[in-house]
Amino acid sequence: MASLRRWVEAERSAGRRVALVPTMGALHEGHLSLVRIARQRADSVVVSIFVNPAQFGPGEDFDQYPRDLDGDAGLLAEEGVDVVFAPSAADMYPEGDATRVRVERLTEGLCGRSRPGHFEGVTTVVARLFNAVRPHVAVFGEKDYQQLAAIRRMARDLLFDVEVVGGPTVREADGLAMSSRNAYLAPAARLQATALQDALGEARRRVASGETDARGLLEAVRRRIAKEPLAELDYAELRDADSLESVDRVGRRSVLALAVRFEGARLIDNTVLETP
Ligand code: PAJ
Repeated sequence: MASLRRWVEAERSAGRRVALVPTMGALHEGHLSLVRIARQRADSVVVSIFVNPAQFGPGEDFDQYPRDLDGDAGLLAEEGVDVVFAPSAADMYPEGDATRVRVERLTEGLCGRSRPGHFEGVTTVVARLFNAVRPHVAVFGEKDYQQLAAIRRMARDLLFDVEVVGGPTVREADGLAMSSRNAYLAPAARLQATALQDALGEARRRVASGETDARGLLEAVRRRIAKEPLAELDYAELRDADSLESVDRVGRRSVLALAVRFEGARLIDNTVLETP
């Protein structure tokens, strides 16, 4: 931690821009795409790898979460990343720690409803990473849309001098959004998991042909998910793309977000919808 701080200080005082890409490791192309965006926007890139216990609920997959620090370090070296920051739990949560960062409202619906405390864990650790690394810019994926929105709001509300940048969702060849958790899918569920992307595609097509009513769009999404015997819809909702408040129809910029459980895995995806 001390040597990271000295390195960042030297970068900053040499007038170099520092970017941070926070991750929990088990890196895939989605993470690496964020590293490339970071590289375009800064002179030096720090990637943090920390499986953050505070964002996993009881009964969630903290223990099984894939960990491969050596493999990750190899991929990041190939990308020319300057620093891999892999703190210990005691670095991030010092003995006797009593401080939490909670973004209200925006984190209460969608994933916040089925994962109580999750976003508080995310914003708490990201605030600490921002303070540990002091980046000029930090890059997050749009795949975790509500997370990105919560982090933007936190950075703004707490006056963090960090530019928060979103990167587009990277997908497998069949359209499934890449995720470290896809590894939990059994082969049959893996095949059915393309339903998420199909459902979002159906919504996009309907909006392109003039349909804007949330009820009809969400009904079509639910029907598509219900076709898959192993899929159980957690939520499908239409929200304002910035405030994440519920909307009845597709407005200037809305986001359709969904979460689907398959035996052993919960997958999320989203699409931003704009009226033509
Ligand atoms: P993790 O799931 O490892 O994701 C790290 C970053 O990669 C996040 O910003 C996430 O949105 C992004 N990401 C994941 N899959 C992606 C994909 N298919 N395309 C583009 N970006 C993708 O999200 C977390 O870790 C944690 O909550 C963290 C922010 C590190 C805080 O602990």
